[in-house]
Amino acid sequence: MDNLKKQTTAPDAVTAQAPGRINLIGEHTDYNDGFVLPAAIDRKMTVRARRNGTPSAVHLTDIRQQQSFSFDLRDFSPLEKGWQNYVMGVVSELQKLGGAIGGFDAAFEGNVPVGSGMSSSAALECSFATALNELFALGFDKRQLIEASQRAEHHFVGIKCGIMDQFASVMGRKDHVILLDCRDLGFQYFPLELGAYQLLLLNTNVSHALASSEYNTRRAECAEGVSVLQQEHPGIRNLRDASLEQVAAGQEKMPEHIFRRCRHVVSENRRVLDAATALQAGDFKTLGKLMCQSHFSLQNDYEVSCPELDFLVQQTLDKEYIPGSRMMGGGFGGCTISIIEKSRVAEFVEQVSKIYRHRFGIDLTPIEVAIGDGAAVIR
Ligand code: GLA
Repeated sequence: MDNLKKQTTAPDAVTAQAPGRINLIGEHTDYNDGFVLPAAIDRKMTVRARRNGTPSAVHLTDIRQQQSFSFDLRDFSPLEKGWQNYVMGVVSELQKLGGAIGGFDAAFEGNVPVGSGMSSSAALECSFATALNELFALGFDKRQLIEASQRAEHHFVGIKCGIMDQFASVMGRKDHVILLDCRDLGFQYFPLELGAYQLLLLNTNVSHALASSEYNTRRAECAEGVSVLQQEHPGIRNLRDASLEQVAAGQEKMPEHIFRRCRHVVSENRRVLDAATALQAGDFKTLGKLMCQSHFSLQNDYEVSCPELDFLVQQTLDKEYIPGSRMMGGGFGGCTISIIEKSRVAEFVEQVSKIYRHRFGIDLTPIEVAIGDGAAVIR
């Protein structure tokens, strides 16, 4: 990863942007040292920050929600909840790395839908990490900004997230997906060329309250599975190291739901690698099949889906013009991601919106995203 250029003089004000992300496949694999296939999108968070001449006063404004918040850099701690935690978390992690941050005013706004599984939180974290790095000439490289943003979420938000979202938000490249090995952050860009197809996200507009507590529970369940597998195979550090055969052989020794969690992660890792191969070969049928398998594994084995997501995926299964569809992100709401023939999008959206409203009494939001570049200072 190239180092961000170290500056000799810090600017008085900066504007930085960081995008949300999609994920083609590879869900709940990142914190198991596994593989993911995400991409940054053209929806972003933009933050304008300026030094205010004080040693430690910070004033933040969320433009869209018209909320302001101030804190002192010498003494701050997480609130019970809220966007403030993402920003304070980033500040705290940059300080822990030795970053000398002075007083600043910052205002932000963005168009990544919150709670959609498109990672508006990583966009917020990474936009602030990028802005503050520039504003105070901290000289951190991209990897440090990615990891600081991830730790912000662990320590100030309380979600023990993996690295996928922050990595994609910082490292995204226009028109490319990223095959990322979350063990060592080795990565490769693949052009996302879908021919007659395109991506379509459908936002369920539900965000079930379970999302954060169940997320951390899943992490603990994976660790439990690993500790059982290690009894037979001491070389297994993480689910990334286990094969499906080893998981099957360990089934008797672990609770049933732990077995299914392990089976999801291990099979999903395989699917990500197969999907990358299919994408390169332009084999959208295989790619689509892998996406559907991913969904069913998340629904039945990992149990992080919800009726709204399952319903939307179900609606695609008999449509030959939609080779694949699945829930995207952490789960319990948010979006599905589908590959669909371009010429059929309008027809499908109209049809599925109608039956979704009829079934759940909620409006569906179709989102056509383009694949964009990662975080950047723009002024
Ligand atoms: C959230 C987390 C990511 C990842 C996904 C599930 O988006 O922030 O780290 O674990 O869920 O794949």
